[in-house]
Amino acid sequence: MQETLTIALSKGRIFKETLPLLAHAGIVPIDDPETSRKLILDTNREDVKLVIIRATDVPTYVEYGAADLGVAGKDVLMEHGGDSVYEPLDLNIARCKLMVAGAKNRPETPARLRIATKFVNSTRRYYAEQGKQVEIIKLYGSMELAPLVGLADYIVDLVDTGNTLKANGLEPLEHIADVSSRLVVNKASMKMKHRQVKKLIDLIAEAVNERRGV
Ligand code: ATP
Ligand code: PRP
Repeated sequence: MQETLTIALSKGRIFKETLPLLAHAGIVPIDDPETSRKLILDTNREDVKLVIIRATDVPTYVEYGAADLGVAGKDVLMEHGGDSVYEPLDLNIARCKLMVAGAKNRPETPARLRIATKFVNSTRRYYAEQGKQVEIIKLYGSMELAPLVGLADYIVDLVDTGNTLKANGLEPLEHIADVSSRLVVNKASMKMKHRQVKKLIDLIAEAVNERRGV
């Protein structure tokens, strides 16, 4: 008897980009999270369920074993911190960069910088490594607005094309980290459901390599 495997995914970009990788592993969701209000999605496989949660909650669900596996951005994993989940695979999807950005025409920066971000822990770590004392202002979105209205000197946010920064008169200043989504696995599931989990990791790895042209 196969035990059930639960995979945690967030709606939007991660769900869309993970779908072809799951399909390669023979897993196809029955409902579409963009139209369904269901939070637990059945798949074509009796033994595989998907749970649809906020991107930032994925490491928590996987850490506590509420999901056996999950897909989370490296930004989210860095912010979650620690080594509470296994991270066996870089899926090479949802690629972007975590960066410091500021206004193109910014006034002289003060001695103690104010940084607006939702990535409080990663920002604190980044500046601490440089021995710089900064004031961090926690925001939950639309970080680009903060320097425009005098809430912060800089922001720390994700940058892909740079269009969002540009549209708001900001420019990228410092690169903090390259970001892509990772497959994460609950530590107990890796042991207790090893055969099933390992097979899934191998099939997804195959799909990632095919997409890379390896
Ligand atoms: P929540 O609304 O729960 O806070 P979110 O808005 O960050 O989550 P998404 O925008 O779907 O959720 O982003 C999910 C992940 O996709 C991020 O954690 C990051 O790794 C990656 N990502 C975010 N923005 C971009 C982007 N512009 N280009 C490529 N990847 C991105
Ligand atoms: C993300 C991120 C930036 C934007 C960067 O937002 O927070 O605002 O992408 O991408 P770009 O450099 O290609 O413009 P997203 O589009 O996910 O919207 P969100 O604010 O809902 O997270």
